[in-house]
Amino acid sequence: MSDTIHPISAEFLRQTHLTEPQYRQLYERSIKDPQNFWSEQAQKFVTWFKPWDEVCSGDLEKLNTGWFKNAKLNAAYNCLDRHLEKRAKQTAIIWEGDDPKETRHITYAELHSEVSRFANVLKKQHIKKGDRVCIYLPMIPEAVVAMLACARIGAIHSVVFGGFSADSLKARINDADCQLVITANEGLRGGKTIPLKQNVDEALMDCRQVRSVIVVKRTANEVSWTEGRDAWYQDLMAQAESQCPPEMIDAEDPLFVLYTSGSTGQPKGILHSTGGYLVYAAITHHYIFDYHDGEIFWCTADVGWITGHTYAVYGPLLNGATTLIFEGVPHYPDFSRYWNVIDKYKVNIFYTAPTAIRALRREGNDWVTRTQRESLKLLGTVGEPISADVWEWYYTVVGNSRCPIVDTWWQTETGGILLSPLPGATPLKPGSAAWPFFGVVAAIVDDKGNEVADNQMGKLIIRQPWPGMLQTVYKNRERFVAAYFAEFPGKYLTGDDARRDNEGYFWITGRNDDVIKIAGHRIGTGEVESAILQHPSVSEAAVVEVPDAIKGHSIYAFVTPKSGIKPTDALKNELIKKVRTHIGAVATIGYVQWADALPKTRSGKIMRRLLRKIANNDLNELGDVSTLADPDVVDNLINNRLPIEE
Ligand code: PRX
Repeated sequence: MSDTIHPISAEFLRQTHLTEPQYRQLYERSIKDPQNFWSEQAQKFVTWFKPWDEVCSGDLEKLNTGWFKNAKLNAAYNCLDRHLEKRAKQTAIIWEGDDPKETRHITYAELHSEVSRFANVLKKQHIKKGDRVCIYLPMIPEAVVAMLACARIGAIHSVVFGGFSADSLKARINDADCQLVITANEGLRGGKTIPLKQNVDEALMDCRQVRSVIVVKRTANEVSWTEGRDAWYQDLMAQAESQCPPEMIDAEDPLFVLYTSGSTGQPKGILHSTGGYLVYAAITHHYIFDYHDGEIFWCTADVGWITGHTYAVYGPLLNGATTLIFEGVPHYPDFSRYWNVIDKYKVNIFYTAPTAIRALRREGNDWVTRTQRESLKLLGTVGEPISADVWEWYYTVVGNSRCPIVDTWWQTETGGILLSPLPGATPLKPGSAAWPFFGVVAAIVDDKGNEVADNQMGKLIIRQPWPGMLQTVYKNRERFVAAYFAEFPGKYLTGDDARRDNEGYFWITGRNDDVIKIAGHRIGTGEVESAILQHPSVSEAAVVEVPDAIKGHSIYAFVTPKSGIKPTDALKNELIKKVRTHIGAVATIGYVQWADALPKTRSGKIMRRLLRKIANNDLNELGDVSTLADPDVVDNLINNRLPIEE
């Protein structure tokens, strides 16, 4: 990766919130005096019904941290009500449908009334504070309405990405014990329909606790209906009152649960608090995107992911921004779609994932250069490392060498961005997520937890709590401790490898656990393996990641069929289908290599490290194979290795 530094243009510098010396001063203060720093920021960014007794309590050693103890607030009030005096007529949401002809502008006053109305609908369905509500919707304004309506009454929302299968949905509904599901009859993406209600019907065959399903009518198509359980969103809204006072919520009451893949077992329900999360969402959105009043902010992430939660919904609405919600995909109706949307609504800040940038770059510059993009002032990226050449393309072709890029590193668990340049304050190095945000003490350590020297690779950890930090894994404190705090007690383990250069810039290389990032989506290898193993013809399976030019990574599966079963293309397709049905289209297997046997230690553990090297044709240093039960297995696998298309 290149270490070129891109200076920020004078034009941009004139209007940014912070300069480099101001960042350094504030950063120092934020880590030396977190109590006062966060007290000031919490008052600046959030409106509280009752102040806190203590800003940050507990510590990471005892794992009893908390933020804004005993304070009271309401997330929907902060996103809506408090803006009404100044912004009632300002557009809160610009919605661009999958079909470019479909569009909506929703003002803060309208959103406030929709949310209040839907909060009353939820109450009528007997949903109360602390109950879990599952939201399985496409990218339509009703998804935002549903999230904020839950927040208004203190219900905990669990948004499930519309691309997840019925099986994945079922597992998430059951784990969080949701009592109500909000969905649409169908979703629309790239001109194709997605059978959301049908998936819900399938999932609910094994979710007995769900009493009601509220269905948004998104398309004209009929869907099957369970009388007494299902109701149309539009019908319920027509009967609901538009006044609903916000509940007093404790700062440490959960705002939402969001499932994500880990290195072991089934996805974990990451639980986020109300007070700390909101403060962190607002402050990061303000400084990292250098948000100024009146600007149009577009985060392309689906609300089914943390990026959609924090930077399509909560961050922008907390700051009184206009947020653009896009239902479609970057290549429909053609490859200019993103840039046309930017021109259509005069988008100022655009935030997307490297996988989308790579896919659009592949199609050639014409799709971009035929559009204007003059409104843009800042670009952002998230979800996976962005290589220097892709960064340069984004900078020069999309941003006309005029817009800084914020390469933001963070995770579902962190609630908001932890590492990023601050536009105007940080000279940009393509491919680096730059410096820690306020209050973030990041370090690179070796396997024993000792800090490594500058430029040495190691594990990325965080040493101090920050307000956006997850509270726990829903109903599973043991997993919370084991996943994030067992390896280095008292420090948060990110699961990423990185190095820090001698100017303090962080360079993230990727995951060091059994999590794969495919097109920016987080998939656990264990989940894929257990789906493959459900097939009656399979005896053993192990999956690893291999590089992919567009998606970043692709899944490479080693599969041993049961004895007597012939490995055929038909079986391979069945396995691919099995994984898609079990998890969703995000987990499409790229390669299936048939294996007579898998390399195992004498104690029977599959040696994934070796398999990763074989799949990646990284055969020079196979490492220590002395513990292998049967060394011939490796030669066999090497000889039958599949070529990787990069
Ligand atoms: O590996 C890192 C990668 O995405 C992981 C977190 O995934 P998820 O919880 O789905 O959240 C994604 C969006 C916040 C991280 O552990 N990642 C995220 N951002 C970057 C990144 N890798 C490199 N550079 C980034 N900017």
